[in-house]
Amino acid sequence: MKLLSRKASCNTHGQDSSYFLGWQEYEKNAYDEVKNLEGIIQMGLAENQALVDFMSEIRGNKVTFNPNHIVLTAGATSANETLMFCLADPGEAFLLPTPYYPGFDRDLKWRTGVEIVPIQCTSSNGFQITEEALNQAYQEAENRNLRVKGVLVTNPSNPLGTTMTSNELDLLVTFVEAKDIHLISDEIYSGTVFISPGFVSVMEILKNRNYDEFSEVRNRVHVVYSLSKDLGLPGFRVGAIYSNDEMVVAAATKMSSFGLVSSQTQYLLSAMLSDKKFTKKYITENQRRLKKRHGMLVSGLQKAGIGCLKSNAGLFCWVDMRHLLRSNTFDAEMELWKKIVYDVKLNISPGSSCHCTEPGWFRVCFANMSEDTLELAMQRLTSFVKELNRNNNNNKNDNNNNNNNKSSSKHVRSRRSLAKWVFRLSFDGADRQPEER
Ligand SMILES: Cc1ncc(COP(=O)(O)O)c(C=O)c1O
Repeated sequence: MKLLSRKASCNTHGQDSSYFLGWQEYEKNAYDEVKNLEGIIQMGLAENQALVDFMSEIRGNKVTFNPNHIVLTAGATSANETLMFCLADPGEAFLLPTPYYPGFDRDLKWRTGVEIVPIQCTSSNGFQITEEALNQAYQEAENRNLRVKGVLVTNPSNPLGTTMTSNELDLLVTFVEAKDIHLISDEIYSGTVFISPGFVSVMEILKNRNYDEFSEVRNRVHVVYSLSKDLGLPGFRVGAIYSNDEMVVAAATKMSSFGLVSSQTQYLLSAMLSDKKFTKKYITENQRRLKKRHGMLVSGLQKAGIGCLKSNAGLFCWVDMRHLLRSNTFDAEMELWKKIVYDVKLNISPGSSCHCTEPGWFRVCFANMSEDTLELAMQRLTSFVKELNRNNNNNKNDNNNNNNNKSSSKHVRSRRSLAKWVFRLSFDGADRQPEER
């Protein structure tokens, strides 16, 4: 079965010109001041070694990465899109567990023509992936006449803020092995795990299974990484694809022409990443601060009577506001979201933007503001919930009164003001898009 895309398999990039051959020769025979004085001198390329070392360090050095298997990209955005171009043709599909990062609709589908088929995960088991949900998604793709080329997961998850268990990862590897498809693990938040259980990379699962280099499934598992979250450097646009498949590495390298990381950026970052003392300290301190901020958010929400999914990673929580909905619908979720954005003035993301199948969940970031601002946000939310509960109680009383006297003028007034309010919200919100990052 053809596992790569037509683009990845064809030869129209021009990579075979002598211009590129020089770079390949350098890889084979690099100059070294001590070990290879006769070698070819590279002018302007920084090493991938510092990045792969950093990736190993974040995974507790339980796995190592080969620097020749990495392709640098302009962030994880570019890495994910490039992998789609390499692994699938337009009209083919990837399965993604819900809820997922809203940017994937743009990154995976928009320019590539690839389709996303959701793997429906629910709150009943903390949104974990099950075998049944995987099979259902596969079946749905078949019903839609879409050829499935792989599964893409984010671990730790955006928007859930949770790490995947070894069982889930095992299930995924078994699934992609059986179906003869790819697995992409976007591990952009791997350095943000602030409470146990710790992070388990899919690479660790492959290692534990003792797959050798000839194993097909080993070559069909690809990792996406970026410095945007773990080092807080989204503006630097440094990401990477890691793959054991040489064809994928070669195709992605050709495609990376359209999203290169500047030599200056590579030079600066390789110096920074090579400073092991600094990176260790940074990651540890970052996790300590995330833990503290996460605690502040969870207890602030609790005071407002709001719970959230138990999480251990990421820069956000998956917050349960189902009890605040007027009804169990996505219209009610949008109504609540608009109140929170325009009246309470907090920008949070509604679960529907992450393709969540249950109305009433919201992603709330806690890491991009000062502690004072987070406290203020919690105060606003608490007052809002109090007000909402008061109004709901009043409405209940009104309804009771109205049952006694249907022409009560108070009831008419409150309904009129509600109608006005709903009209204002739908008008205000017409052109706005929820945030993606
Ligand atoms: C899961 C996930 N993948 C990819 C990205 C894009 O990251 P980058 O800034 O490295 O392009 C994000 C950004 O929020 C993300 O959450």
